[in-house]
Amino acid sequence: MKTIINKINDRQLNSDIIKKAGNILREGGLVAFPTETVYGLGADALNENAAKKIYAAKGRPSDNPLIVHIADMEALEKIVRDIPDAARTVAERYWPGPLTMIFNKSSVVPYGTTGGLDTVAVRMPSHKVACALIEAGGGYIAAPSANTSGRPSPTKAEHVKEDMEGKIEMILDGGTVEIGLESTILDISVTPPMILRPGAVTKEMLEELLGEVTVDNALLDEEGGDPPKAPGMKYRHYAPKAKLCVVEGDGEAVVKEINRIADENIQKGNRVGIIGTQESIGAYLNGVVKCIGTRQDETTIANHLYAVLREFDEEDVDCILSEAFSGDGIGNAVMNRLLKAAGHHIIQV
Ligand code: TXA
Ligand code: MG
Repeated sequence: MKTIINKINDRQLNSDIIKKAGNILREGGLVAFPTETVYGLGADALNENAAKKIYAAKGRPSDNPLIVHIADMEALEKIVRDIPDAARTVAERYWPGPLTMIFNKSSVVPYGTTGGLDTVAVRMPSHKVACALIEAGGGYIAAPSANTSGRPSPTKAEHVKEDMEGKIEMILDGGTVEIGLESTILDISVTPPMILRPGAVTKEMLEELLGEVTVDNALLDEEGGDPPKAPGMKYRHYAPKAKLCVVEGDGEAVVKEINRIADENIQKGNRVGIIGTQESIGAYLNGVVKCIGTRQDETTIANHLYAVLREFDEEDVDCILSEAFSGDGIGNAVMNRLLKAAGHHIIQV
């Protein structure tokens, strides 16, 4: 299959391109598109055969459900059995935006989209291209992140091309995404609501609106505990080819330990990658050193994480050593993804 790649500017939408992309979706094809979180791989969510093509293109296990993307609240009514009051409160504040909610599904949503579940994950993205494509494509786009299963999520169209060229009809290239980590997933069908995947809308932000909010315990555990409630979180996602190890502790001690482990490995003939920040980068003496952002503003770290992991795949390093991050605000989502990529391999100093 020849994949058409179209550049698209979210401040000046080309309606011809959007229309063509919408028609591909209406005919059961696949279109990758930018959202504010990561690039999505879209198909008509209400067409079971189209949704199935997503699993084939990604090499994704069929029990891992897809998020349905909508453009307005009316669209929600048709695909869910009921809308809890708490969901309306959250939607009013955080939709459109980087937040997904889990509802009981109505019969129009095929099991091919929900991985056989009676619940459905729904998100209303804020990215202009995503919104226009949803409208053009019939109102309901099932879209996981547009990466091959097991690779880091794509934060620019080049990443999508690496993974999807030849497998899908079209890629809409809207440049680098704004956030860089996938949406927060909130199960609103339970009381109190539970976060199944941390993201840019944090636990603190949701608690301010809803009172108590819990976090799926399986997210904090090492592998081997209870399975996580979002089926996708159980896979060793976001995994770079090289072994990744996170070093946590006081700033100077971390730099010292990373330099020590790096030197030890280099002496053995290994190629070592190092993930540092603007604040520390000058202190790393050997290895392939990459700057992930600044600690002054952890949104920069969220924004670069997946691109840096992909760059290390290109560099053919044998191991990667990364500093740990704060765990507050968006830093919580950063650490969740980083620790998953590391298979929970962490050294405390
Ligand atoms: O930011 C995002 O959410 C991006 C963009 C494209 O919108 N999408 C995304 O989709 O990250 P994906 O498929 O890579 O991750 C969806 C996660 C998976 O972990 C999946 O198991 C979970 O959502 N999920 C989907 N439906 C669910 C359901 N009914 N119950 C529990 N978890 C669900
Ligand atoms: Mg994904």
